[in-house]
Amino acid sequence: MRVSTLLNGFAFAATTVAQSSTGQACPANSVSRFEPCICPYGTDFQYSTTWAILGVSAKDFSTYTSSFYDIAWQGVTNLTRNGPDKTVGATRTYQAPTSVGTLTFTEKLDSFQTLPDGSYIARFSQFNVPLEYGTGNGTFSGYWITFDAEYTAEYETALKWDIYACFTGTPFNFGVVHVNALNALLKVMDTAGLVKGNTTGPYYVQTF
Ligand SMILES: *[C@@H]1O[C@H](CO)[C@@H](O)[C@H](O)[C@H]1NC(C)=O
Ligand SMILES: *[C@@H]1O[C@H](CO)[C@@H](O)[C@H](O)[C@H]1NC(C)=O
Ligand SMILES: *[C@@H]1O[C@H](CO)[C@@H](O)[C@H](O)[C@H]1NC(C)=O
Repeated sequence: MRVSTLLNGFAFAATTVAQSSTGQACPANSVSRFEPCICPYGTDFQYSTTWAILGVSAKDFSTYTSSFYDIAWQGVTNLTRNGPDKTVGATRTYQAPTSVGTLTFTEKLDSFQTLPDGSYIARFSQFNVPLEYGTGNGTFSGYWITFDAEYTAEYETALKWDIYACFTGTPFNFGVVHVNALNALLKVMDTAGLVKGNTTGPYYVQTF
């Protein structure tokens, strides 16, 4: 079955990647790469993956999440757009309240692919590198995100939300941020009558 294959894939990816920060150098300048890599000297590598089987149609999920700019569902504010939506090279700047302070992030869309069934994959990366935590005990020194939503059945969408990051100081808990955002989104979609299937997760694993 497709879903269980995906889930096995998730578990496999999480264990193999988590142990491997070997390989090629992570870019110092936010040129995107989406494979395990060695962070720039003086920064540390972290990996997190969040996954779920969502009881919503892939098309509805895409309507709510696939815009590079309509990301209030993630709790962010003051968003600035630069470039056409869903277009490689677009950048967005926004404020996000995080556990390490309310910070201003700029991210660049590195690729976007979608299918008529609502499946899509967006890859984007941190552009304003480095970004110091407001709490003073760490730095986002580059991150690369893959958001992969896949049609699996009429009211079933498999989601995998991966991030590789280089940081200094304290690792940031991306997994809990992503899980909270998805749970909040599911509530909104449920209120809109769009949760018509069963949901498993979201869950996350990460390298710390
Ligand atoms: C948006 O930015 C303005 C100006 O920097 C700031 O005063 C305001 O608090 C911000 N709003 C939110 C919700 O972060
Ligand atoms: C980083 O700073 C925040 C806020 O002061 C604190 O909650 C957190 O425990 C600190 N982390 C470490 C590892 O020092
Ligand atoms: C959801 O799960 C319940 C209980 O396992 C099952 O009866 C139902 O058919 C499932 N619904 C869908 C849409 O798969």
